[in-house]
Amino acid sequence: MPTRRDFLKTATTAGGAAAAGLAWPGALAGSGAGLPGSSSSPLVLPRPVAPPARRLRLLILGGTGFIGPHQVRYAVERGHDVTIFNRGQSAPGMFPGVEELTGDRAAGELDALRGRTWDAVIDNSAARSDAPDWVRDSAGLLRGQADQYLFISTRSVFADLSQVPATVDAPVLTRETTRNWSEGQPYTYGLAKALAEQEAVAAFGARTTIVRPGLIVGPGDDTDRFTYWPVRIERGGEILAPGNPDEDRIQVIDVRDLCEWAVRLCEDRTYGTFMAVGPENGRSMAEFLYGIAAVTTTPLSWTWVPREFLAEHGFRPYQEMPVWRPPTPGFEGFARFDLSREVAAGLTFRSLADTAVATLAFHHARDAERRATLRAGATAEAEVRVLEAWHRARS
Ligand SMILES: NC(=O)c1ccc[n+]([C@@H]2O[C@H](COP(=O)([O-])OP(=O)(O)OC[C@H]3O[C@@H](n4cnc5c(N)ncnc54)[C@H](OP(=O)(O)O)[C@@H]3O)[C@@H](O)[C@H]2O)c1
Repeated sequence: MPTRRDFLKTATTAGGAAAAGLAWPGALAGSGAGLPGSSSSPLVLPRPVAPPARRLRLLILGGTGFIGPHQVRYAVERGHDVTIFNRGQSAPGMFPGVEELTGDRAAGELDALRGRTWDAVIDNSAARSDAPDWVRDSAGLLRGQADQYLFISTRSVFADLSQVPATVDAPVLTRETTRNWSEGQPYTYGLAKALAEQEAVAAFGARTTIVRPGLIVGPGDDTDRFTYWPVRIERGGEILAPGNPDEDRIQVIDVRDLCEWAVRLCEDRTYGTFMAVGPENGRSMAEFLYGIAAVTTTPLSWTWVPREFLAEHGFRPYQEMPVWRPPTPGFEGFARFDLSREVAAGLTFRSLADTAVATLAFHHARDAERRATLRAGATAEAEVRVLEAWHRARS
């Protein structure tokens, strides 16, 4: 079955890279000549950013999954020397011309990192329940070998997002406050990332940068959580739209916005803790869905169904209705982050149209079987069942 990697190759060789929001990996060979200056459709360019102030020697822990390739592509475009570190299992040789070091963080095999120096490290790959150990080992080793450690964390570290607007200073999970975890069990995802953040700070102190993305969306995302919506909307017909169109909010991050900003945070030696969601004011659920519909042409209609009815019929936020997280108690600020600090630190946002087009291009490059079996969201049959129940209840 063709994989995301095959798509990346196809997108590049078929000249579809701009539309798909991608510009690698073939184009990375050599000096970077021929790389487009932007990975967006030329019609929906992101806000311009300043050229890099310096040339970086950048180490990326990971690099070949979902977000890593976007970092590598952008860092090479910006003229940086990039080294990636992974097991060499997922996609060996993905980037000709980019140095690849091999090791296994789960086994503590970090020898390939010894005796080298870098300006900055971006740590993507610590995302399992043992993430604190991974970060303790790698940051502990690298603290004398690199000037900056940027840890990709998550919005899931927050213990309470009831404040509106939320900020990155909201309370974070601890062992004591994590309800679905008890001593002796593997850490939950959110707790593992929260403790891993602490390990990064323990090693790098004030030279640490922590970036907490919300849902990362766009080309290369194999989870299909955001992808569900452009694909569903493109299919047309009567579309079940969840919750309150105006009051339910959405803040997600395009993978390219996240990854490009991470590289710039290293260029600028920006330290501290930041959210990575957007855009600044978020979007209502209506703006989100209608905005995606603006890049499709199939006739469609919307049926908004309240969250109580959906709950009665087994349609859950973030599950059957992905991306949607209504402001239930404790989640009021989930998609209402004040991003002043992040924007001041250089976070920029692509248009929703760009994200939707790039996601559809990614999806259409998949083989037929993968296109037919999304990994997130309601099935067509389940959607029809709930819509019929809603119409019966209303009549
Ligand atoms: N998806 C979301 O919506 C979302 C939201 C918030 C935060 N996040 C965070 O975003 C990050 C996403 O990471 P990604 O997977 O896309 O990153 P990536 O850097 O693109 O890929 C993960 C890399 O880890 C390497 N790897 C896996 N196991 C390893 C091991 N034992 N030792 C060394 N390297 C190993 C893989 O290569 P090999 O297999 O070859 O080793 C791969 O290169 C995670 O930190 C996640 O917590 C995601």
